[in-house]
Amino acid sequence: MRKKLILDVDTGTDDAVAIMLAGLHSDLDLIAVTVVNGNVPVENCTDNTLRTLDWIGRSDIPVYQGLSHPIVREDFPTPRATKRDPKVHMAVLPLPAATSSKKELSAPIFLTQTFAQQPGEITLVAVGPLSNIAAAIAIDPKFPENCAELIIMGGAVNKSNITPSAEFNIWADPEAAAQVFRAPFRKITLVPLDATHQALVSKDQCEMLRGLGSPASIASADIIEHRIKGYEETQPTGTPLSAPVHDAVCIAALVDREIIETKYVNVVIETLGEYTIGRTVVDHEKRTKREPNCHVAFGAKREAFVAMLSETFAPTAPSQAKAS
Ligand code: RIB
Ligand code: CA
Repeated sequence: MRKKLILDVDTGTDDAVAIMLAGLHSDLDLIAVTVVNGNVPVENCTDNTLRTLDWIGRSDIPVYQGLSHPIVREDFPTPRATKRDPKVHMAVLPLPAATSSKKELSAPIFLTQTFAQQPGEITLVAVGPLSNIAAAIAIDPKFPENCAELIIMGGAVNKSNITPSAEFNIWADPEAAAQVFRAPFRKITLVPLDATHQALVSKDQCEMLRGLGSPASIASADIIEHRIKGYEETQPTGTPLSAPVHDAVCIAALVDREIIETKYVNVVIETLGEYTIGRTVVDHEKRTKREPNCHVAFGAKREAFVAMLSETFAPTAPSQAKAS
């Protein structure tokens, strides 16, 4: 039985690889993609999402646009966005113009309706700021329990990116994240930078992917090489000529949970700290009496992750014909 999922994205270079993996893996049934403001303005995220789905021949997957701003803060994307590194993401992905269009229904309404129609059957994978997810919770208090599982790319334990104490997705809308971690989801799995930076993809592996010759393998090679260049210039990973592909690790973990190693701990979100806004406070040393609420990934298996990308994107894979 294929696993049903809905993917919430802020496409985004690594989001695009996640979309391709979710749209092409034979164990997954990608029901829809919802879009949120994040790496680039939400309209660009939607356009990049449509380009990606068209490119891999999955224009049948509907796209719903959501929030263009955080649920409370007014200082994003303006002042805080200047901290965002434009070298890792792109306003327009290097893919042909989209031929498909987004649906008219807003993402939060689509999410609440769809999960209510199939309670407990669909996994929600959120790889951007959590604004749409918090809006869905506000619209329908039953939304959390209607989700089979919520897998989030986000958070920083010892590895940060946008500030010394926070990761971008949580930092961009910390009030939304705080709502999400307080809500009664059946299961929350958090894949923070501490895990995604253990699953780096190298330039050599991009050349291997490109050599497969399918639309997805060529596009993912180009996109990840762009990320590698951006990381080398702005935030070296410590492993030369490599970069994390954060969002795709969440999809790989949905297919094969062994790809990540998790601990069940308490996570709350800092929304007031002068220097720590957006901090995921992960109580993995049991310093408080707060009950565990989240399976946090502290490890990820790099080789298994890259192998899944190449197996899924190979032209011999059921869904990939050779690029013309
Ligand atoms: O911090 C990494 C996360 O922020 C990824 O999801 C990336 O796409 C951006 O959204
Ligand atoms: Ca993202």
